[in-house]
Order: sequence, then C-alpha cells, then structure tokens
Amino acid sequence: MRILGWLFVGAMLTATGAVVMQAQDAAQPVGTMADVMTSMVYPAANDLLLSIARGGPKDEKEWIALQRSAVLLGESGNVLMMRGRARDQGEWMTDAKMLVDAGAAAYRAARAKDLNALTALDAPINASCVSCHKQYRPNVHPRS
Ligand code: HEC
Repeated sequence: MRILGWLFVGAMLTATGAVVMQAQDAAQPVGTMADVMTSMVYPAANDLLLSIARGGPKDEKEWIALQRSAVLLGESGNVLMMRGRARDQGEWMTDAKMLVDAGAAAYRAARAKDLNALTALDAPINASCVSCHKQYRPNVHPRS
C-alpha cells in the first residue's frame, strides 16, 4: 500500500511538485522553543489580550496592528507544528492547532472590525496556552 502510494506520488511529481516538497523539507527551526514563545507567541497573544481588556481597537491604525498580531499568533501555531518542534503528533498538535484557530478567528474579527467576535477570543487564546503548558511545561503560569 505504502509502496503503491509512493509510486503514485512519484508519478504525480511535476517540476512544481518537486519544488513544493523541497520547500517543506527546507523548513528548519530557528531558535529554541523558549525563543518562539518569547518572540512570537507571547507578544502576539499579549497584544490581542491587552486590546480586548481595553475594550478593543479605537481606530483604523489599532485594528491594523491587531490584524498583524492575529496573523503572528495563528502562524506561530503552525511553527509549533513543524518537524523538529512538535513534541508528538497527538496532544501537542491539538494544542498548537488551538493557536492557529484562535489566530485565524482574530484575523477574521480584525478584518471585519467585529469587536464581539474579538472579545469572544479571550478565553480560547488563554486556553491554548494553559492546555499546552499543563502537559509540556508543568507548574508554570502561561502569562508569566
Ligand atoms: C503547543 C504547545 C504550546 C502552546 C500552545 C503554548 N506554549 Fe508556551 N511554552 C511551551 C513550552 C514547551 C514551553 C517551555 C519552553 C522551554 O523552556 O523549553 C513554553 C514556554 C513559554 C514561555 C516561557 C519562555 C521562556 O523564556 O522560558 C512563555 C512566556 C510562553 N510559553 C507563553 C505562551 C503563551 C502566552 C501561549 C498562548 C498564547 C503559549 N505559550 C502557548 C509550549 C506551548
């Protein structure tokens, strides 16, 4: 089955396909897990949570800033799923996916300037940190 699968993949390989596969293999971790947290995950989540706590963006500029943080948060979830970063293919991926989903929802809310949708993300954003840290980083508060 597996061999058949590979034969099929091989047969399907076009020049474009080969480039795509090379690009996937080329993805490499930069920095430690703590670096990803402090450079990407934490600042993005912090911006979103602070904005929510303050009653949401006040003007166009703040909505655009929020949209950028939303992209950063969502994409940081993808970075956590990378080969070389993912600790397993089960619970870790589920927790990382929570970040992707929260980021994507925040992105949609920012594009639509939908304050209710944005505010509703307070709990899911926090939940993603707590859920993963409980299992993979015990005894540490997520917002420390
Ligand atoms: C899929 C798992 C996962 C998710 C989701 C996650 N973290 Fe982490 N986080 C970790 C792990 C693992 C560490 C421990 C890294 C180490 O010290 O090696 C960590 C550590 C941290 C640290 C400490 C970094 C340091 O300097 O030691 C901060 C801050 C942090 N996370 C913030 C967050 C926030 C905020 C969220 C949610 C928005 C979040 N994390 C979501 C796995 C995750």
